[in-house]
Amino acid sequence: MALSDFPRYPLTFGPSPVHPLDRLSDHLGGARVWAKREDVNSGLAYGGNKTRKLEYIVPDVLAQGADTLVSIGGYQSNHTRQVAAVAAKLGLKAVLVQEKWVDWPDSVNDRVGNIMLSRIMGAEVRLDPAGFDIGFRNSWTRAMDDVRERGGTPYGIPAGASDHRLGGLGFANWAYEVQAQERELGVFFDTIVVCTVTGSTHAGMIAGFAALEDAGGRRRRVIGIDASATLEKTREQVGRIASSTAALIGVERGLRDDEITVLEGWAGDLYGVPVQSTLDAIRLTGSLEGVIIDPVYEGKSMAGLIDLVSTGEIPKESTVLYAHLGGQPALNAYSALFTG
Ligand SMILES: Cc1ncc(COP(=O)(O)O)c(C=O)c1O
Repeated sequence: MALSDFPRYPLTFGPSPVHPLDRLSDHLGGARVWAKREDVNSGLAYGGNKTRKLEYIVPDVLAQGADTLVSIGGYQSNHTRQVAAVAAKLGLKAVLVQEKWVDWPDSVNDRVGNIMLSRIMGAEVRLDPAGFDIGFRNSWTRAMDDVRERGGTPYGIPAGASDHRLGGLGFANWAYEVQAQERELGVFFDTIVVCTVTGSTHAGMIAGFAALEDAGGRRRRVIGIDASATLEKTREQVGRIASSTAALIGVERGLRDDEITVLEGWAGDLYGVPVQSTLDAIRLTGSLEGVIIDPVYEGKSMAGLIDLVSTGEIPKESTVLYAHLGGQPALNAYSALFTG
């Protein structure tokens, strides 16, 4: 099968915008940096990377006749907010298990930003004291059992819509979209930088670019930046989802080790807790480009990009595409970091 054989339910506006970050590039003095903007990819509750993944999962939801989406994430999960939006759009219910993934001392952490948006959109939000984990959880299975007991038909979407058979397809499609946009713009992105946590964003890109490479496309590097400080788990999950997605879309070879790159060094010690380089990256991107990034994900991947470009580890001759995956609503739970 090829990617085009999978049904896709449109939730995005179409191809997400691609544009240069000229002032940031000049400031860093190395490779030229562009951004592809998943933060403005949809009119559904601010969009983001999960909206794209859900385009390939929704047809399965509808085929199964489900009436309730059940998913899981942290209090400030962008993913569960996007699930809530998609449920609203489709006229389905949403039950969201929101775990205490981050021990973050903001008194409104469980009330503002993403979680508030999910409540506004009518989702049933269940706060749970469990800590960070991208795996399958009993609370999630219990939520599905509860829906069944009430006579509903649940459809389970795992954390980040990642560990799901179809979870990698959205970003495999992103790779095809990039290739088409490169032709229009007359540019080639030899390096992609992407934030990696639950893995299927990065993994989908790897699979999509592998398929394009096998069809004669030029080789490029996809650099995942770890944002959760659980490198081994993340690398394993990215490799596993990349391989299964590649097989699903007809890549007939095993993936090479050099196709699966997750770099550490910018996550700090904990998921959801920004470090100085995260805050510097947020302020630099905001003040030079007017582009807003968050302290949980994109601030960390941008900190990685800043270092890799300014040290020349990504060579000066490169053209880099930064995947902006969304996530700004969480900033509201981090207001104490930006009072001056
Ligand atoms: C804004 C943002 N960036 C990056 C990521 C990481 O993507 P993934 O979980 O697919 O690795 C997420 C979700 O986890 C996110 O919400």
